[in-house]
Amino acid sequence: MSKRIEAKDLNVYYGDFLAVEGVTMNIEPRSVTALIGPSGCGKSTFIRTLNRMHEVIPGAHVKGQVLLDGDNLYGDGVDPVLVRRQVGMVFQRPNPFPTMSIRDNVLAGVKLNNRRIAKSDAEALVEKSLRGANLWNEVKDRLELPGSGLSGGQQQRLCIARAIAVSPEVLLMDEPCSALDPISTLAIEDLIGELKQEYTIVIVTHNMQQASRVSDSTAFFNIAGTGKPGKLIEYDETTKMFSNPNEKSTEDYVSGRFG
Ligand SMILES: Nc1ncnc2c1ncn2[C@@H]1O[C@H](COP(=O)(O)OP(=O)(O)O)[C@@H](O)[C@H]1O
Ligand SMILES: [Mg+2]
Repeated sequence: MSKRIEAKDLNVYYGDFLAVEGVTMNIEPRSVTALIGPSGCGKSTFIRTLNRMHEVIPGAHVKGQVLLDGDNLYGDGVDPVLVRRQVGMVFQRPNPFPTMSIRDNVLAGVKLNNRRIAKSDAEALVEKSLRGANLWNEVKDRLELPGSGLSGGQQQRLCIARAIAVSPEVLLMDEPCSALDPISTLAIEDLIGELKQEYTIVIVTHNMQQASRVSDSTAFFNIAGTGKPGKLIEYDETTKMFSNPNEKSTEDYVSGRFG
């Protein structure tokens, strides 16, 4: 579990539009990497290339490589469904299946992968995943109730439980706390700190405190203007990025002077 990600000269397109240009970066296993930058600079676009979610949009494609422990996710014959099993994703708005029970939500990804699973194994997996997402104690007595009955913060942890139930190597999170209250946000941040023992985590965040609290490394993306491609401007240890970055634009952004 937990693999290294390498993007190599990655260009990301929507049809002819180059949305993100020339990203080369290495993301270390068992660490948290934060992607920051102003709206529209391509954070969501880039993160979705790391599990081949980008290409589900018609016309969307990439040039360049993304390696997972050395294997190109975009190599010939690579099955995107298998990629998404290894590289899980959690979205901005918690998106549990609303009518499905909490238990079935946790198992949804496993069942989608067509894995048959014995009832006792399923129960163990539900408990393990919910414990992993710090949600077990809150829901263990109501596993049959619909996921939509949970609070926003609980729903997001349910989505994290669903993501980790398939035993991914990498977890991608695109602004996972932006729809949550501060208490739920802290619960997710604590959880991220625990999950990085086992997973490679990449998180997009608009919240500079959050980036500095949860991440080991930070990548700053920026855009020169509307219609221009987003670019990776600077990527370094989070402490360096927030105290003494090399680029003036990084310093302006992390200190709240623009964006
Ligand atoms: N589905 C899409 N089709 C076409 N262009 C898109 C689509 N999604 C995003 N874009 C464009 O790609 C650029 C980067 O957007 P996005 O990745 O959402 O930025 P961020 O997440 O940093 O705010 C923007 O110019 C945006 O308009
Ligand atoms: Mg975004």
